[in-house]
Amino acid sequence: MTAEPKQNAAVCVTGANGFIGSWLVRTLFDNGYTTVNAAVYPGSDSTHLLTLTKEANTNLRIFEADVLDYEAVEKAVEGCVGVFHVASPCSLDDPKDPEKELLLPAVQGTINVLEAAKKLKVRRVVLTSSISAMVPNPGWSKDKVFDETSWTDLDYCKSRKKWYPVSKTLAEKAAMEFAEKNGVDVVAIHPSTCLGSLQQPYLNASCAVLQQLLQGSKETQEYHWLGAVHVKDVAKAQVLLFESPEASGRYLCTNGIYQFGDFAERVSKLFPEFPIHRFNGETQPGLMVCEDAAKRLIDLGLVFTPVEDAVRETVESLKARGFLGHQMSQS
Ligand SMILES: NC(=O)c1ccc[n+]([C@@H]2O[C@H](COP(=O)([O-])OP(=O)(O)OC[C@H]3O[C@@H](n4cnc5c(N)ncnc54)[C@H](OP(=O)(O)O)[C@@H]3O)[C@@H](O)[C@H]2O)c1
Repeated sequence: MTAEPKQNAAVCVTGANGFIGSWLVRTLFDNGYTTVNAAVYPGSDSTHLLTLTKEANTNLRIFEADVLDYEAVEKAVEGCVGVFHVASPCSLDDPKDPEKELLLPAVQGTINVLEAAKKLKVRRVVLTSSISAMVPNPGWSKDKVFDETSWTDLDYCKSRKKWYPVSKTLAEKAAMEFAEKNGVDVVAIHPSTCLGSLQQPYLNASCAVLQQLLQGSKETQEYHWLGAVHVKDVAKAQVLLFESPEASGRYLCTNGIYQFGDFAERVSKLFPEFPIHRFNGETQPGLMVCEDAAKRLIDLGLVFTPVEDAVRETVESLKARGFLGHQMSQS
């Protein structure tokens, strides 16, 4: 892959309306990209995107595209040298119909984006996968830190009805197979739980995890946790992966690997006024702790923001938007 001047290069972001998508649009403009095609779910409100930066107001082109609608996806990708595929259903609620609500948009949506990228000769697709395509993986050796060679155990998840990890794993596997067969350049990023200020008007799933923890939730996040990361670092990493010709394969994006119970402790030190549950024992049994788990991204030059900053900014944002009441310590 050869670099091209950014001013001549339009790029497309799917799921641009969402938490990560909005931060990515903002980061692209901050990094000198002049034209961004924002693909958003038809009928969704994208007014917040236009006020993200000065440039967004004039140089953001909004395309309504359900990722299941190939024609609409192709229109959004047309004229772009790069595609950041972010759109995929992401919710804390269990789906009523996993196939229709989660698996189909994740897998077929990804294939549609890659088909369009192939036809329109896109230089690279940066696929937003997830730690949920790496864990849970009960077969992983207990004395080894999780890394990019780990894949989520699909049977384990299906038997527990954990459909989100199934959707992310199947989507990434389908993408890698398509890329291999069709010669499309796909690089995947695997963020852990993303935190930071909300650009979008609604509460997304990962910020809801922190909201619920602050409200006293005892949910251990057993199946969905490796660590946390500032959403702005994820956006920076997505751009870095697009711009680094040598990048290939999978990139874990987390500021450390540790227990959710330890995260709860750190949050309670920052916000002692909230009734945060103290977890006894391991919330992720056998998880090996590691500070620089995202070694591949660190080696490319990514510097992670302290998780405490991400937590503070999320809390401020949740308060400002009315997503946190005045829960005070129960003691
Ligand atoms: N946040 C995290 O901690 C985290 C961690 C790892 C990976 N990820 C991945 O990052 C991506 C973005 O997540 P997020 O946290 O930003 O969640 P989000 O705010 O819910 O964003 C998801 C976006 O995907 C869009 N979308 C869903 N189905 C679609 C469809 N059929 N067609 C077009 N657009 C569709 C949504 O549009 P509407 O809202 O308008 O329907 C929304 O803009 C997802 O792929 C998720 O799996 C997130």
